[in-house]
Amino acid sequence: MKLLAKTLLGLENVLAEEINAIGASNVTQLNRAVSFEGDTEIMYKANLNLRTAIRVLVELETFKISGVEDLYKKLFAMNWQDYIGRLQTISVDSIVFSKLFNHSGYVALKTKDAIVDKMREIHRIRPNVDIKHPDVRINVHIAENVCTVSLDSSGESLNRRGYRTDAFAAPLNEVLAAGMLSLSGWDKKTPLYDPMCGSGTLLIEAAMMAYNIAPGIYRPEFGFERWITFDKDIWEKVLDHAQENEIKYDGNIMIFGSDSDSKALQATKVNIANASFSKRIEIKKEKFENTTAPTENGFIITNPPYGERITTDDINALYKEIGDTLKHKYTNYTAWILSGNEYAFKHLELKHTKTYSLLNGKIECKFREFRVFKGSHKEYKTSEN
Ligand SMILES: C[S@@+](CC[C@H](N)C(=O)[O-])C[C@H]1O[C@@H](n2cnc3c(N)ncnc32)[C@H](O)[C@@H]1O
Repeated sequence: MKLLAKTLLGLENVLAEEINAIGASNVTQLNRAVSFEGDTEIMYKANLNLRTAIRVLVELETFKISGVEDLYKKLFAMNWQDYIGRLQTISVDSIVFSKLFNHSGYVALKTKDAIVDKMREIHRIRPNVDIKHPDVRINVHIAENVCTVSLDSSGESLNRRGYRTDAFAAPLNEVLAAGMLSLSGWDKKTPLYDPMCGSGTLLIEAAMMAYNIAPGIYRPEFGFERWITFDKDIWEKVLDHAQENEIKYDGNIMIFGSDSDSKALQATKVNIANASFSKRIEIKKEKFENTTAPTENGFIITNPPYGERITTDDINALYKEIGDTLKHKYTNYTAWILSGNEYAFKHLELKHTKTYSLLNGKIECKFREFRVFKGSHKEYKTSEN
């Protein structure tokens, strides 16, 4: 099978490594996606195990088209009865980069018509469209005159792991949080701390990585489980394999979180309990400025506010406080900070050692590493002069 995993900008490399690790072949990085090849088992594994994939598409056919009637004809000719059951519901997503069509919505409509007409011809009954919970999701991608038709094997997007039932303020997309942890190079052993944990996304993703827990293990369902070709034996084998590989809890991996807002703490608590991590993650309500380092050395990974909701003065003061706190209380720590506020970053008054460009929703962000050691502040000042 030809497969395509979609991801967020800046995480293509991390995703390609993950795909190699599940044993796929012909792994190729694209823009916000990685293509690869594999059998049914690889497709199930991809959905269950890839931390930085948003969805996994299975390519059915690629063909050239000359216009809308040609598109309809070629879609009608496909063997939809092999993929869609007599009483199943469908939905169609379309992405169009082509002068042949003005509207991606029109392409979706034509695709749906072709499929419905074909199914009616075969089964004498038309399949219903269900936008929210279809049995089979069809994806049509048109780039100029090339049309690729795929099935979406994930269903609901894969960042919806199932543990986050309570969200506070602006929670990170789970895929972005997992990607940040991978990019940071955290070794999954060093004590990890998020002092502005919000709903706890980074903490829970970190715990899942540290204990080798598959990110999809809490999900109620994947799209492919509704397919007429679903192979329960292979799926159970994939699930058993993932569970056998989990690392047993022994109290050795320390993960801490804190936040100044009690509602954030409450959300984190609920989400941690959903993931059954209450023993594995320690949390408390505290302003970062008032904290003391939970361990002698460690790894901080955090996503402070960027200032959309508070004033410039306040945001600059907050970043100054974060920088001072790191310099005075977190010497020997490596800190990774994601922020969409370049100007506020400067108020940390720390020199970064690595940087990645990422998108948090629509906000362009920098994800930066700061190695904090005694005298960091003085060195920064010197380097600025
Ligand atoms: C953008 S949110 C973090 C979202 C989080 N990464 C998640 O995925 O849910 C920023 C958090 O910083 C917290 N915060 C702001 N100022 C703080 C401070 N001085 N000390 C501790 N937490 C603070 C806010 O309460 C908020 O929960």
